[in-house]
Amino acid sequence: MPNLTSWSDLPDDVWQHCLGRARHFRDTREWTSGAKGKSIALLFLNPSLRTRASMELAAHHLGAAPVVITPGQGTWGLAWGEDAMTGDAAEHVHEAIGVLARYADAIGVRTFASLTDYDADQSDAALGAIVEASGVPVVNLESAKWHPCQELADAAAITETLGDPRGKKLVLSWAPHPKALPQAVPNSALLMAARLGMEVVVARPEGFSLGTDVMDLAKKTASLSGGSVTESADQDIAFAGADIVYAKAWSGALVYDNPEEEESRRLARMDDWRITNRLMMQTDRGHFMHCLPVRRGVVVDAEVLESEDAIHLLQAEYRLHAQKAILEWVWGMGSES
Ligand code: CP
Repeated sequence: MPNLTSWSDLPDDVWQHCLGRARHFRDTREWTSGAKGKSIALLFLNPSLRTRASMELAAHHLGAAPVVITPGQGTWGLAWGEDAMTGDAAEHVHEAIGVLARYADAIGVRTFASLTDYDADQSDAALGAIVEASGVPVVNLESAKWHPCQELADAAAITETLGDPRGKKLVLSWAPHPKALPQAVPNSALLMAARLGMEVVVARPEGFSLGTDVMDLAKKTASLSGGSVTESADQDIAFAGADIVYAKAWSGALVYDNPEEEESRRLARMDDWRITNRLMMQTDRGHFMHCLPVRRGVVVDAEVLESEDAIHLLQAEYRLHAQKAILEWVWGMGSES
């Protein structure tokens, strides 16, 4: 049974096929009835604009029926774990997923990192529990550790923009934010760029390294695809000659030791890492990327977002096309690209 929990669930040939299908869907704007009679339950434990809208529409475009569940907002709040359910949550995730799996042919799940339980976040425990309870394929709509739907859309946006991205330079740049944020998107962006064979530089202040396991995996992936992965604590040096700047705020491992409020204050102070036109001028007319939502004037200046070199809206558009390709794969609809 195909689950899409992380990038590694899509072998290279499948990944390339899905990229081709995503490009096909963007070029043709095609609606099909290939998934007529199928349905997908979309369980959002955290907010979303792009993932929710694009996943619902992707299902409709293929002739399938989506149903969206937002626990605690019109449906029962969900409990996790083994403790007696004496709190507000009326339903355990085990029953909720068991029921949805009997209604639908796939389940999409968004469950962000807790940022309080390091081991649970590192092992993607919440997503794992859902996969275990589900008898149908599960699609990760952003978990504690990975955002594979974003990753495929980002790869499609890059290949459309740059052509062959091998050997091109992508800077994954940390950016400031008033709140502590998870690492799922930067983890996925890093693996995506490594898989495309790009020269990747992770630019981040001291204390904001991504996980050693993710960095090691990215380096191994890059070595197989002819790319490279390095790190820099100097944003100016990192940006020099970049073809792509992928900006994202994320928390360092210290967030698990410090109360979130303290971490938030620390993040907000580091305004000199904001993406500005001055920084973008160091690039080789680099394209700006961000998964969205993005805080203008905090993460990035408005003039960067409004530059003709910014491709964040193309990224967002590709969410729809890429997820149509993913649903085809999940449901075994192997059209040729
Ligand atoms: N990039 C992304 O996943 O957007 P949403 O949080 O709005 O779904």
